Amino acid sequence: MCGIVGYVGNKTAVNILLDGLTSLEYRGYDSSGVALNIDGKVQLFKAQGKLKNLRDIVEKNYSDISKSTIGIGHIRWATHGVPSIANAHPHTCNCGRVAIVHNGIIENYKELRAKLEAQGCTFRSQTDTETVAHLIASKFAQTKDLTEAVRLATMEIEGAYALAVMHQDVKNTIVATRRNAPLVIGFGEGENFVASDIPALIQYTKRAMYLEDNQIVTLTPTEAKIIDSEKNIIPLKIETLPWEPVALSKMGYKHFMLKEIHEQPDIVRNVLTGKLKTIDEPISLNEVTLDVKKLKELNRIQIVACGTSLHAAMIGKYIIEDFCGIPVEVEASSEYIYRKTITDENTLVIGVSQSGETADTITAIRLAKKKGSHILIVTNRPDSTMAREADSLVPVNAGIEVSVAATKSYMAQLISFYLLAIYIAEVKGSIDTKELMELKHELILLPQKIDKILTHKENIQNIAKKFSSFKDFIFVARGINFPTALEGALKLKEISYINATGYSAGELKHGPIAMLDDTMPVLAILMKGKVYEKILSNAEEAKARNARMIALTDSDDKKLDELFENIIRIPEISEILSPALAIVPLQLLAYYIAEFLGKDVDQPRNLAKSVTVE
Ligand code: F6R
Repeated sequence: MCGIVGYVGNKTAVNILLDGLTSLEYRGYDSSGVALNIDGKVQLFKAQGKLKNLRDIVEKNYSDISKSTIGIGHIRWATHGVPSIANAHPHTCNCGRVAIVHNGIIENYKELRAKLEAQGCTFRSQTDTETVAHLIASKFAQTKDLTEAVRLATMEIEGAYALAVMHQDVKNTIVATRRNAPLVIGFGEGENFVASDIPALIQYTKRAMYLEDNQIVTLTPTEAKIIDSEKNIIPLKIETLPWEPVALSKMGYKHFMLKEIHEQPDIVRNVLTGKLKTIDEPISLNEVTLDVKKLKELNRIQIVACGTSLHAAMIGKYIIEDFCGIPVEVEASSEYIYRKTITDENTLVIGVSQSGETADTITAIRLAKKKGSHILIVTNRPDSTMAREADSLVPVNAGIEVSVAATKSYMAQLISFYLLAIYIAEVKGSIDTKELMELKHELILLPQKIDKILTHKENIQNIAKKFSSFKDFIFVARGINFPTALEGALKLKEISYINATGYSAGELKHGPIAMLDDTMPVLAILMKGKVYEKILSNAEEAKARNARMIALTDSDDKKLDELFENIIRIPEISEILSPALAIVPLQLLAYYIAEFLGKDVDQPRNLAKSVTVE
């Protein structure tokens, strides 16, 4: 999704802006631009497509451009108006003295635009953002004070925004503000930064502060002043960011996605560290405040999430219901928010989100909070909006994930669900001690098993090559691995654009079987356990329709060799834990197919890492 960077200091601004935008590229975008102050004049440089196109434009004019020590930059993911240079940010007012960049959606832009047009403003784009540039210019004409102009403008804006603004007549100053969209300030020596996410500033400073909703910061090279919407001064609370820039390097892998898949054994160890100490000690989740009394009063759990996080949540349902005996409902956040949801103070509502900034999930948890539910957030970003609004937190510790396709954050979410379910089961006393100890032991052994898959991936590479020319793909499973089938299909479709679908194997004969013939690969997830034989029968049915059969299994059953054209064998694991192992070959399969097809693996078309609009 869109990304913002702003710089005011003593260095060449454009270099810092372009580097910052590059580190936000992973969020997904279709155009980019910067506004600089060159010889006292605000000038814009914009390009459609990849950042390289903007870099080329900058390079051609570099001797002039490099003079500017102030600037704002943006990568845009189109919402209002097609991807084009005219719609790319920054946007300006009529006279071009105000330049702004914006993330989010201005909901009342049509009314504002009509009003501003009636006052003589000429619009050059189809965006909602341009209204804000004109609005700020009109407020500046009245007040001659940029901070006040921004404050007054935001009082008329409805919707979500993170804004960074500069004005030709206000030297060396950037004003920035936010509502329901993240914005972070970075503090340097004789220079200050503003960005929509930490990767854009981490290589320059580790001293940062998150702006709260409706706060306005005025940045100069040596000062940062923050006020709230009532003009009260907000003291600076600068924190030191824990992140290392090295985390953003590919470390020799061809793509971030491949690197992140390979990080998963360490991620599992990270998530377990400090929480699962020994198999006979209870799980400790410090930021979860659910005690026995609260848990006894719970009548249900609702989990809200989107995309890959939704699949982790679906597995979470299986695990929690199995260990804790509490009914769990899972729903896509975007569905949860526009109906009469039955939620009360005895419902625990869990929000799952790698970014912690997904607009639909934020809306869902706020809705549940209003109804009195305890809100528990499972997120990879303990600094995110969701984490800050949570009553209880389970930070998943996957480190920054750059590839748009979530892999290691999904793994970390799964492990967090195992820990959470065991934690609740231990508090409630709902699970047999021996079973618990076996499960903890298996969790500790999981990283080695993932490692084994990662060191023997030639078979998966060969299967990927063989099936990369197919137009469709079906993934089937049952029980706890049904969400694994959905996630395997999602990974494949989002990075290879192959039409991949996950089905419950039992549902095949109720419709999807009509699609089967020798042009359809069917990958069956066949993990040993309750539903193994059932899936085997479903696979026979598919085979009888000439489908091209692939198995993913932890079984060494010889009869599979007759039924399946290709078999991906993985280490043996208990059924309840199997989703954490079975997903790894599916991530690799999707990766190698996309890589073989020459797709832009880390930044698939139309997708964004952090979906901050509803
Ligand atoms: C797919 C993917 C998305 C996200 C979804 C929710 O690989 O990453 O489906 O899972 O957009 O995002 P978060 O988890 O940040 O709420």
